[in-house]
Amino acid sequence: MSKQTIQSLRGMKDIVNHDSELFTYFVDNAAKIAQNYGFCYIETPLLEETNLFKRSVGESSDIVNKEMYQFIDKGENDVCLRPEGTAGVVRHFVEKKLDRAGGENRWYYYGPMFRYERPQKGRLREFHQFGCEVFGVSSVYEDANIILMIKDILDFFGIKFKLLLNSLGCKECMPPYKENLISHLTSFKEKLCEDCNRRIETNPIRVLDCKNDNCQLLLTDAPRITNSLCESCDTDFDKLKEILDFNNVEYTVDSNLVRGLDYYSKTAFEFVSDEIGAQSAIAGGGRYDRLVEFLGGKATPAIGFAIGIERLLELIKVKEDTQDVLYIGAMSEDALNVITKIANKKRKEIKTVLEYSSRGFSKHFKIADKKGATIVALVGEDELKNNTIFVKNIKTNEESNINLEEF
Ligand code: HAM
Repeated sequence: MSKQTIQSLRGMKDIVNHDSELFTYFVDNAAKIAQNYGFCYIETPLLEETNLFKRSVGESSDIVNKEMYQFIDKGENDVCLRPEGTAGVVRHFVEKKLDRAGGENRWYYYGPMFRYERPQKGRLREFHQFGCEVFGVSSVYEDANIILMIKDILDFFGIKFKLLLNSLGCKECMPPYKENLISHLTSFKEKLCEDCNRRIETNPIRVLDCKNDNCQLLLTDAPRITNSLCESCDTDFDKLKEILDFNNVEYTVDSNLVRGLDYYSKTAFEFVSDEIGAQSAIAGGGRYDRLVEFLGGKATPAIGFAIGIERLLELIKVKEDTQDVLYIGAMSEDALNVITKIANKKRKEIKTVLEYSSRGFSKHFKIADKKGATIVALVGEDELKNNTIFVKNIKTNEESNINLEEF
């Protein structure tokens, strides 16, 4: 009998070698930044009751409608693998009666999420998020702080981004806006795509971010939520923009930004990059002041975000490709100790590859090439005598002997 090999499932992949190193590098540093902003680590189960996501992410969302890894377990419980992290954290908050205790809670998390989507570049069925959630703070300064924190994380890794910003109003101004939008959309309903027609019935604002070009053309004159906000939402949105301006954070107001999860109110945002193809959102989030209530708790203001780790790592890789890598080698046994010391020093400023065996000049260049080095530095008998190091920049072809202390 032939034994067939087993492969990982479609849209799921192993994270290993350089990717896993980057993964931990990202999580460690993002966690440090979150801790400096007062967040504490939380880990919630990957498996939750299906109802948790129906009641939070929303029955009309694609995530709940089409993309859940849902099954009945051996105890006849309807469960599903979490498609996102917010719902589990809110469940914890309500379960532990922290809504009754008052006060503020700030948690960060990271880990796998599961969505049965059509896999493509940047879109997986198992992917990882790094997220933060804040409970008990209604001030719009918190919204600004959350945005500043994401910016800090992206800046730390040198990632360029665009910030899209919107306000989705509240329970006072969103319902009349929806009515207005429905009557506008109904007048040319038959020209809109099938999905939009379904959404007019289930969640009309999702029509606004339809990816179909024809629908987008038809939506040019659609009423805008930013023109329909109540006084309180309008004041908060203006204040948020003012704080961001004051902190030199650039943003674009996009009144079609509605997010794919139903729990948002007021501030909604996305960080996008034009360097990773069609799946351009690297982070998304916003305020969800009513979700605690939807899940049976006492009304509590809340806000959060999640970064898509795989998408972010793609960007770190793009950046890495342009970074220098130093290769250090010895051309005599005697030089091995010296190059170890130099590499240890150099690693504080540049990615450094060290070759442990002494080799000839051209052999070193062959190895350096395989390891992706952009600078090659070699020490042999002559260099040892003169206290120098031979250095060649592969990109510019410049070469010289540099005094060891200066190097
Ligand atoms: P989301 O926008 O659905 O928000 O996901 C956040 C990020 O996860 C996206 O911007 C994207 O980078 C990444 N992502 C989503 N789906 C995939 C996929 N199939 N493959 C790869 N990456 C993906 C949320 O999940 C909310 N829970 C965020 C939040 C937290 N809002 C408030 N608190």
